[in-house]
Amino acid sequence: MKNSNITKKITQGMYVLTSQGGGCVVDAVSQISSGDKPLISVAVMKKNYTNELLHKNRTFALSVLGMKANPEIIKTFGFNSMREMNKFEKVKTNQVMGVPVIADSLGYMVCEIIDVIENDTHTLFIGELVEGDVYDDQEAMSYGYYQEHKEELMKVTTAKGKTAWICTLCGYVYYGETLPEDFKCPICGAGVDFFQKKD
Ligand SMILES: Cc1cc2nc3c(=O)[nH]c(=O)nc-3n(C[C@H](O)[C@H](O)[C@H](O)COP(=O)(O)O)c2cc1C
Repeated sequence: MKNSNITKKITQGMYVLTSQGGGCVVDAVSQISSGDKPLISVAVMKKNYTNELLHKNRTFALSVLGMKANPEIIKTFGFNSMREMNKFEKVKTNQVMGVPVIADSLGYMVCEIIDVIENDTHTLFIGELVEGDVYDDQEAMSYGYYQEHKEELMKVTTAKGKTAWICTLCGYVYYGETLPEDFKCPICGAGVDFFQKKD
């Protein structure tokens, strides 16, 4: 028996993988070793434009998405290809060692590629951490959280012309210019601090 559902129990995070000229959302990130020279791996689909860029540039960055990350970042970098859209026109980035990193993230790791393993569909890039910073010491979004709440998270981006407030704990969306001070999420009870504004 091969019940691959068990692989969904592997805990992963949500990141934007970037290199000079592009980037995409990834969850297949793993820390191989820590210490003086931490090694980090990322698996990238061969069909992705970002795969080409990593082969060419040999340097990549991983920006860590927080629980309050703007869903627009996931939509832009996870559902579009740089072949058709300039993602950097939609999402603000900072330049670190010539690599764009997501400004609205918890922080970033810049890695130099030291090893590349190819299989049929994916390339596993192994990078050595050469630069990093923490922008915001908040809880990171897990891939499991994204999977559970993706419909609510992504729906917000289709509500054009309205200001939306998204509950970052459960994905509930409140529409209105301002969020009442004493507002509580009707689904999970979270207070206003857990809501993120989306215009
Ligand atoms: C939640 C989520 C997780 C993803 N994880 C990965 C991943 O680990 N590796 C990967 O290659 N693509 C992953 N993708 C898909 C890419 O982000 C997507 O194919 C993107 O459009 C590729 O853009 P590009 O052609 O500009 O590189 C993920 C997408 C989403 C929404």
